[in-house]
Amino acid sequence: MFAFPSFLSASSSAGSASGAPAGPADPAGSDGPPASTTAGRARSDPAAALSTFPWDTIETFKHTAQGHPDGIIDLSVGTPVDPVPVAIRRALADASDAPGYPQVHGTPELRSAYTAWLDRAHGVTVDPRDVLPTIGSKELVASLPGQLGFGRGDTVVIPQLAYPTYEVGVRMAGATLLRADALTAIGPERVSMIWLNSPSNPTGKVLPVEHLRKVVTWARARGVVIASDECYLDLGWDVTPLSILHPDVCGGDQRGLLAVHSLSKRSNLAGYRLGFVSGDRDLVGRLLALRRHLGAIVPAPVQAAGVAALEDDAPVLVQRERYAERRAVLATAFGGAGFAVDESQAGLYLWCTRGEPALESVAWLADRGILVAPGTFYGPAGAEHVRVACTATDERVAAVAKRLAAG
Ligand SMILES: Cc1ncc(COP(=O)(O)O)c(C=O)c1O
Repeated sequence: MFAFPSFLSASSSAGSASGAPAGPADPAGSDGPPASTTAGRARSDPAAALSTFPWDTIETFKHTAQGHPDGIIDLSVGTPVDPVPVAIRRALADASDAPGYPQVHGTPELRSAYTAWLDRAHGVTVDPRDVLPTIGSKELVASLPGQLGFGRGDTVVIPQLAYPTYEVGVRMAGATLLRADALTAIGPERVSMIWLNSPSNPTGKVLPVEHLRKVVTWARARGVVIASDECYLDLGWDVTPLSILHPDVCGGDQRGLLAVHSLSKRSNLAGYRLGFVSGDRDLVGRLLALRRHLGAIVPAPVQAAGVAALEDDAPVLVQRERYAERRAVLATAFGGAGFAVDESQAGLYLWCTRGEPALESVAWLADRGILVAPGTFYGPAGAEHVRVACTATDERVAAVAKRLAAG
């Protein structure tokens, strides 16, 4: 049976005078977010429990890079810079007369376009009923443990080097975080949920089919939910990434498995906010039931745009080519500047090191007007790496090569 997250059941008794619910973690314990007082009532501040937003901590390096006479080259974030394909923009515009509420479950057309893409591009069969559109994938990642009813007393495993939002989701739920890449590293700990991310942000590592299979078998034996973030699935370079829902991984049995996808990178749609979660019928059904209460709805014009994005593979291939070329230029440029490029078999990032503390590399590059993200944003194991995004324009990428060649 689905246990409603604590913030739903607690909302009537813990709400403020304005009716706002208490913080999602409803932290009563000693390791919860710090409490503050508003109008005499104890309130929690979930944001205060999180560390500073990572990119705010490299503002000084950003200012340094902005001082370069030819301007900053910002490779610190993976935000698409190329145009939204015309057919997608047309579909958005054509659907703009949308006075009524859209369905939380998404239109049948959107869910069918998504499952047809999964089948065509990735050999995965999903029933369109077992699909839920999300408002980009980040909001889901940041709330999934809580939305599945996990909280205090539950342990959620995330990769050693991980997109920071997995940790946010675990902390917001009040669950315990464990960073581990190998099942042996988890040991006897009782685990409720495990996040996989292949291809990885930040490393670009792709988990081989044997590893994925092993994790599925392990999780099944223990009733552990696997959430697999596959937002870079269309961007394999040296290897072809496989979905957790692929029959070679799960044997056609999707119970306990959720795959998370996004149109942000593959279709340059980060500004539209459209992602998906699919897989286990019961889990998707529970998410749908909860998200109807929350009003977590993708706008109707964006749903229509998503159909256009998923039905046409040609623009995705064009975009792939752009990234492949930029990736090659950046890999050569960083290699020439003494950086080794580790992993980086897929996705939009180069995982680079010069064997020095990450912030030394960030500072050295900022002096040349190039901003990158320190590996420490992604976990302690990133202490000597920087993450270089391949999402700058051709002109800016060429400028990186020029600046690094100049020494
Ligand atoms: C691994 C990973 N998951 C999820 C997201 C969120 O993407 P979006 O919210 O645009 O779908 C990102 C964005 O960079 C990411 O790198």
